[in-house]
Amino acid sequence: MLSLIDRLEKEKILTAAEFVTLLENRDEARDYLFARARAVRDSVFGQDIFIRGLLEFTNYCKNDCLYCGIRRGNRAVSRYRLTPEEILERCALGFELGFRTFVLQGGEDPFFTAPKVASIVREIKSAFPGVALTLSLGERSRETYELWRKAGADRYLLRHETRNEEHYSALHPPEMSLASRLSCLFALKEIGYQVGCGFMVGSPSQTLANLAEDLLFVKELSPHMVGIGPFIPHRDTPFRDCPAGDVELTLFLLGLIRLMEPLALLPATTALGSLDPLGREKGVMAGANVLMPILTPPGAREKYLLYDNKICVGDAAETCRFCVQRRMEGIGRVINVSRGDYPGFAPQSP
Ligand code: 5AD
Ligand code: FES
Repeated sequence: MLSLIDRLEKEKILTAAEFVTLLENRDEARDYLFARARAVRDSVFGQDIFIRGLLEFTNYCKNDCLYCGIRRGNRAVSRYRLTPEEILERCALGFELGFRTFVLQGGEDPFFTAPKVASIVREIKSAFPGVALTLSLGERSRETYELWRKAGADRYLLRHETRNEEHYSALHPPEMSLASRLSCLFALKEIGYQVGCGFMVGSPSQTLANLAEDLLFVKELSPHMVGIGPFIPHRDTPFRDCPAGDVELTLFLLGLIRLMEPLALLPATTALGSLDPLGREKGVMAGANVLMPILTPPGAREKYLLYDNKICVGDAAETCRFCVQRRMEGIGRVINVSRGDYPGFAPQSP
């Protein structure tokens, strides 16, 4: 096992069969993998951990993904949209708290038309010069992505969820397709965003072979960010009785991705922290280098529930900001309050 890890570190890729072997034997490989992943991460980023203020600005969604708590079919959700003024106010608070990246995330909400989002992007970028803006608004047309990039958006997060057709169909309604998801990701990259793909670990019917396909896809896309977290069931979805993903398996995948993509921005996700009280610390110990504390205002926070038992729902943004700092200092890390771009990525406009 250890020689496979050495080869992964050197060649940055393995075959699907080798990835499956590693995943099957993760108990014996984990300590070594995590030590190598930390060494690789530290050689690029030192002790620094980047933070992003996550602003969940709409929980309306036109999609019906079977795993997701804010799917349109969930009538139990109380829906909200922040106004542009509220979004700006939260960014002002975030700026004071030291965030220099804001992540605007929402369901696929047609109310936020392309021009509306573009104008919010422009306002944020002019009110807070020097901040980076990440969008996470799902699948849109290439023209829309171009418009938002021209308006000043720097990064885009769009998890591919799974690289396997059959598995994608098991997680999504028939009107959604893997092909369309992938073409969005490649378009985003061409347009010049720093792009993040990603997937859930332990989503229903996922196999280790599927995870190997996800890893090979990461290599193919060569993204700047990779968001992975455990699947966690939500009580009002068709997957309510499915088991949650495995924390150890999630950590192991973080470690593998760090070796494949030494420069990548890899968050230790809220889902990881929700399943294990020390999940985010463990994520960082496995190779992650980004945290995304929640900046969503009270009143909305408790309505943006993609899964059950989400952490920080009752906490103030200030609480989370300093909580993550304390947690990182506790494991010998330092919060870096710069934009935290992908190394070598020009930190300015398109
Ligand atoms: N458990 C864990 N992660 C989830 N996501 C959506 N629903 C769940 C869930 N039940 C993830 C998806 C999506 C991201 C915003 O949140 O991967 O892309
Ligand atoms: Fe929100 Fe710790 S990060 S309370």
